Amino acid sequence: MQTIVDVNSVEKSYGLTQVINHCSFKIYEGEIYGLLGINGAGKTTLMKMMLGLQQIDRGSIYVLGKEVSSNTEYLSNIGSVIENPTFYEHLNAGELLSMHLSYMQKKADISRALHLVGLEKADKKRILEYSLGMKQRLGLARAIIHHPKLLILDEPLNGLDPVAIAEMRGLMRKLTNEGMSILLSSHIIGEVRHTADRIGILSDGYIKQELSRCFSSGDTSKKRSVCEFVVNDEQKSPVENIEDYVIGFMRREQV
Ligand SMILES: Nc1ncnc2c1ncn2[C@@H]1O[C@H](COP(=O)(O)OP(=O)(O)O)[C@@H](O)[C@H]1O
Ligand SMILES: [Mg+2]
Repeated sequence: MQTIVDVNSVEKSYGLTQVINHCSFKIYEGEIYGLLGINGAGKTTLMKMMLGLQQIDRGSIYVLGKEVSSNTEYLSNIGSVIENPTFYEHLNAGELLSMHLSYMQKKADISRALHLVGLEKADKKRILEYSLGMKQRLGLARAIIHHPKLLILDEPLNGLDPVAIAEMRGLMRKLTNEGMSILLSSHIIGEVRHTADRIGILSDGYIKQELSRCFSSGDTSKKRSVCEFVVNDEQKSPVENIEDYVIGFMRREQV
């Protein structure tokens, strides 16, 4: 299994506050890795460091075999939507993607990207008339249009209705089936539970525990009904109640 992202003992402080502390984890080819943590846990900070948007104080991050700090070439193999995407809102979706491609100096099929995210009918509408969910989809179209190997999505299901969430999950699975790897963040257990192949619980600045999904999507055996995730260690113990388990690892600073 090819390693797509390798985070090694990374540390990051803002002023005197250490947000990321000896944080290590890996993301493999074709998987959806869910970064789960309470608000302020450092999810966005980690993603920004992977994208070279925040400096890494100590440790290293390798993306597709290249160390993040030393070059920017790897960025053409990444697509990302960090926090709330911003757009030139007087444009329509086709114009926006066309401008994005010329900026990236790439060629790609705009209508295919819009079709993938379910925006094909809205192509001529100006973005300022879009709903929040439509903007989320457009952000995703912009992130995947150049067929990146790694897709980084910061809280991608925020603001989406249940139908759009189900569609988004289907789309993420389709993209990973085509070989893409996805890192997504969330503070909502249910979101990662239904979406990720592996979950990393980010707490106190590092990945305190990792869980792996214990059946493949095609597995119809009995195991499926009793086991959803196992702890990612030697014992591979099944997690009986994921909500309780995860909350046990999260912690709010005492005030
Ligand atoms: N640019 C910044 N300057 C100072 N503090 C920041 C900055 N960005 C984030 N923080 C702080 O770092 C912590 C982690 O933030 P963030 O990475 O956005 O967490 P998350 O995405 O998990 O909610 C928070 O306490 C936040 O206030
Ligand atoms: Mg965040």
